[in-house]
Amino acid sequence: MTELTDVEKQALIDLANEARKLAYVPYSNYHVGAALRTKSGRVYTGVNVESAAYPTTMCAERVAVYKAVSEGERAFEAIAVVTDNGGSPCGGCRQVLAEFGLETVVLIADGSGRLVVETSVGGLLPLAFTPEHLGK
Ligand code: THU
Repeated sequence: MTELTDVEKQALIDLANEARKLAYVPYSNYHVGAALRTKSGRVYTGVNVESAAYPTTMCAERVAVYKAVSEGERAFEAIAVVTDNGGSPCGGCRQVLAEFGLETVVLIADGSGRLVVETSVGGLLPLAFTPEHLGK
């Protein structure tokens, strides 16, 4: 896999941060933005969408993944996740990302657009249960 340049990483973070403004967060007021770059070079953004029935809230990362998959994209290069305080993806999002590859680069940034952590899906989810376990 070709390494993303620092400029490309920052561009992905900036897209996630821009998307973050659209987060629908009347309950937590915790804005999360994600930007998922596919191997084909497209970028799908996502924001968290909350619900009065709290458990039906959807995270920004999963919105981005589901947008991409529903457009026929399954090969991911990197995902940037931006929150005010550099929060990292929840367990559910880690599992959904793992479905599409442990090598996907994960860029975690804060609200000023500063990269806080760079890792991979495999780094976030050691000993992941993956499609290979089901023979896929
Ligand atoms: N949230 C995300 O969007 N992504 C995560 O990985 C962690 C949590 C959202 C869900 C909820 O809208 C708010 O952050 C507080 O939990």
